[in-house]
Amino acid sequence: MNMHEQLQQIQQELQDQLRQIQDSGALEALRLKVLGKKGSLTQMLRSMGQLSAEERPAMGQLINKAREDMSARLDEVARRIQEAEKEARLRDEALDVTLPSSGAHQGCMHPISMVIDQVTDVLTGMGFEVVEGPEIELDHYNFELMNIPKNHPSRDAQDTFYFDENMLLRTHTSPVQARIMTTRKPPIRIICPGRVYRADEVDATHSPVFHQMEGLVIDEDVTMADLKGTLDVFAKRLYGEDIRTRFRPSFFPFTEPSAEVDLTCVACHGKGCRVCKGTGWIEVLGSGMVNPKVLEMCGIDSSRYSGFAFGVGMERIAMLRYGITDMRMLYEGDLRFLSQLRAD
Ligand code: PHE
Repeated sequence: MNMHEQLQQIQQELQDQLRQIQDSGALEALRLKVLGKKGSLTQMLRSMGQLSAEERPAMGQLINKAREDMSARLDEVARRIQEAEKEARLRDEALDVTLPSSGAHQGCMHPISMVIDQVTDVLTGMGFEVVEGPEIELDHYNFELMNIPKNHPSRDAQDTFYFDENMLLRTHTSPVQARIMTTRKPPIRIICPGRVYRADEVDATHSPVFHQMEGLVIDEDVTMADLKGTLDVFAKRLYGEDIRTRFRPSFFPFTEPSAEVDLTCVACHGKGCRVCKGTGWIEVLGSGMVNPKVLEMCGIDSSRYSGFAFGVGMERIAMLRYGITDMRMLYEGDLRFLSQLRAD
């Protein structure tokens, strides 16, 4: 076979093989087979030495022309394949945005958060301002300024985690009130929602971590009548117009006099049921007139100012509102339970 025939054969073969090629990998292999370093056409160029000096230029031109030709043809097929591959990819990746969705999961508020919001709503509507404070608190604010000195027996009921002698996890949100009383001048009208800690065993009505909302009003001429009126309106706004309050004498070191406040049972509206153990009343709040000693320790003139305070547990309100009988259910994070409770 002379070189002319050889060249023709190479071109013919390329033509035939190009017709069958479908993907860019095979095309690249073919390009190497012909035009690569060890390719058939490259080999031909190398064997030009065998030709006579007269034949060489013409043959060289012919081979170079064939090379350009074949290269163009390969490029052309490469473009076609690339185009086809791109289209196939787009087809594969196509999304049908008109398909119905698999359904989005809608979250909901935790019942404690809902109750904090509801109670905050009622009280801010009555003129209270929301104030927050640290959960890691100084003994000074948590106990001392609340008229609970070191070694006072009432500390037993509020044992907690101590970081050192002076720093602890707060046992109530009263220290937030102490912080405000020591830094602001009356009139003061605040509520302090927040998480608090006590060394309590977990059971159906206790948790070592729970939530409170405490309120404080200090002004001139504040009396027990203001406390009773405020809590009466609060109870009615929260649970309904037929709800009444009942005050029973109690003791807290930071209030004098102090009172436990019962509300008409929200489950039976006073008729007597399991929730109120047949009495028609449920115990919901602690309250009292701010002890003048507390005012003085916080730098407020007790001969001019007086005040009242109250504290209510958010878990208790949530349990009453949603008919929950075991506090532990609030913390287990079981969505089957939690998602049934919606704000109303
Ligand atoms: N700080 C009290 C407690 O956690 C609640 C309370 C607040 C009682 C205000 C009376 C007045 O036990």
